[in-house]
Amino acid sequence: MCGIIGFVGREQAAPILLDGLARMEYRGYDSAGIAVRSETAGLQVRKAKGRLQVLDELTHGGADLEGVLGIGHTRWATHGEPNDINAHPHVSENGRIALVHNGIIENYMEIKEHLIKQGVTFVSDTDSEVVAQLLEFHYNECHNMLEAVGRCLRRIEGSYALGIICADYPNALIAARKDSPLILGYGKNGNFIASDVTAVIKYTRDVAYMNDGEIAVITADSIDVFDSELIPVDKDHHQVDWDVSAAEKGGYPHFMFKEIMEQPEAIAKTVSPRLRDGRVVLDDITLTAEYIQAVSRIFIIACGSSYHVGMVSKYNWERLMRRPVEVCLASEFRYSDPLVDEHSLVIVISQSGETLDTMAAMREAKRRGARTLAIVNVVGSSIAREADDVLYTWAGPEIAVATTKAYSTQLVLMDLVGLYLGDLLGAVSPEEYAAIVEGIQALPENMRKVLANVETVQYFAAQYFNHNSIFFIGRNLDYAMGMEGSLKLKEISYIHSEAYASGELKHGTISLIESGTLVVALGTYAALFDKAMSNVVEVKARGAEVLAVTTEEFRERMEKVADGTLVVPAVHPVLQPSLGVVPLQLFAYYVALQRGCDIDKPRNLAKSVTVE
Ligand code: AGP
Repeated sequence: MCGIIGFVGREQAAPILLDGLARMEYRGYDSAGIAVRSETAGLQVRKAKGRLQVLDELTHGGADLEGVLGIGHTRWATHGEPNDINAHPHVSENGRIALVHNGIIENYMEIKEHLIKQGVTFVSDTDSEVVAQLLEFHYNECHNMLEAVGRCLRRIEGSYALGIICADYPNALIAARKDSPLILGYGKNGNFIASDVTAVIKYTRDVAYMNDGEIAVITADSIDVFDSELIPVDKDHHQVDWDVSAAEKGGYPHFMFKEIMEQPEAIAKTVSPRLRDGRVVLDDITLTAEYIQAVSRIFIIACGSSYHVGMVSKYNWERLMRRPVEVCLASEFRYSDPLVDEHSLVIVISQSGETLDTMAAMREAKRRGARTLAIVNVVGSSIAREADDVLYTWAGPEIAVATTKAYSTQLVLMDLVGLYLGDLLGAVSPEEYAAIVEGIQALPENMRKVLANVETVQYFAAQYFNHNSIFFIGRNLDYAMGMEGSLKLKEISYIHSEAYASGELKHGTISLIESGTLVVALGTYAALFDKAMSNVVEVKARGAEVLAVTTEEFRERMEKVADGTLVVPAVHPVLQPSLGVVPLQLFAYYVALQRGCDIDKPRNLAKSVTVE
């Protein structure tokens, strides 16, 4: 995720900005930049794609940029590929306003078109540059920076943390936030803004947290905060009491845990720009109703967890579209002489966008004439560039090898696409469409409820971490979800684990169930709960210990039979796996923790598999 730092004080800003950006490197980024106001040279901006070291060398450790007021940014691309031009800070057309931005401006196209009509020239593909140009537009109207910021914020929709400097204001930095974190730091030799405490902890532990809608004016000796009506607001100060090493992972013990906890926010980012007035809006793709009507076969191709997203999506898409959907392992697809042609739609799912098997499968599909739509997290990655259409998950950088937030954002994005295509085909009733949209909007909040129960999952992990072999069983969506639960467990805890469709047990696998075998029984799919219960009884009768995952509605019945029960809120069936998978991620995490495993870098595994 992007990182912001800003400084104004009695020391040179550039080295402080570079140091703060380096402390946020753990968040992941693809480019970086700083802007410093100099008495003699005005606003000086330096940006570079790639590692911070490139920017550091470019500016000789900041020594090239003289000035005590500046802003810095590490970017993780969302709108526009990672390159020097799309990197922040963005500068307005007259070169007098520079800003850094975290978040997504949802109505940027509309504002951009309006400004272009007024004669403004844009240089980047980003939503963020729109804010810089809009600010200049309003500043030219009112000649007061604070007022211009207020006017600008009233026009933009979406999420933002903003750090702004203006050549006409030698002593002040302006900050604003909505739905994207920003802190104020009170230092001895100057004051700070940052998206992350980590960036400023070396200089000050005295911080205040900006609230949504607030605007701050920061000088070397003061920080004044205003609400959206520009009425002054008093801020409570907080003393940061963590040490710097804990801060490297934003205070979390592992990246995996951090990324699990980030899921509600990540889902909101994936979803909110794509829902307008109760409708799914996919501006980035060009699939029309005529095209989808004419498609004869739909394939989903992916590897690992992304393939598991495909498995869940098969059930959901067939329900929403009433069309057959085939899910293929990318590594098998390309060698199977696939029945793909120009009437096929091929969906390719990949967090990294660089998985070799997935890329090769996509190329094979394209070679045979299929149209491809990629669901990718990393902007500008190879798969994103080569697909006919791409939809980004906007989960932010995922660092732990075991995917969690990328899986969740892929899943919800596939739900959005399924709903969109199902609607184009006229296969979803208006009632179901509305119920799913409502459920998607409520997903972040429901996921927070699940995440509030980490201690219960931790308790069960402590009970069961010594098992050598664990089975995940479920039917339909629960089966597909169990595949991901099982993979999470085996990849980070090294416990042998299998996911089975419950009905298959008695065709062979039940012979492995004996006294003490742990079975994770998934019973969140309401339509088949009775069947799920029968399977729980069946394995209990053979001596298994059962840890169940179910919804509030079925808690009582499950608790009578299972040894342990984890409960998630009941939501629309299409969305239930998005909640059910969370306790499974946490279970894998805590089991691996109990076993002393290297959670973020499990043995033999790489984050991105770019070899066959
Ligand atoms: C899951 O935790 C793994 N990291 C792995 O299965 C991963 O999902 C798979 O390698 C596919 O990666 P991709 O999504 O980047 O293509």
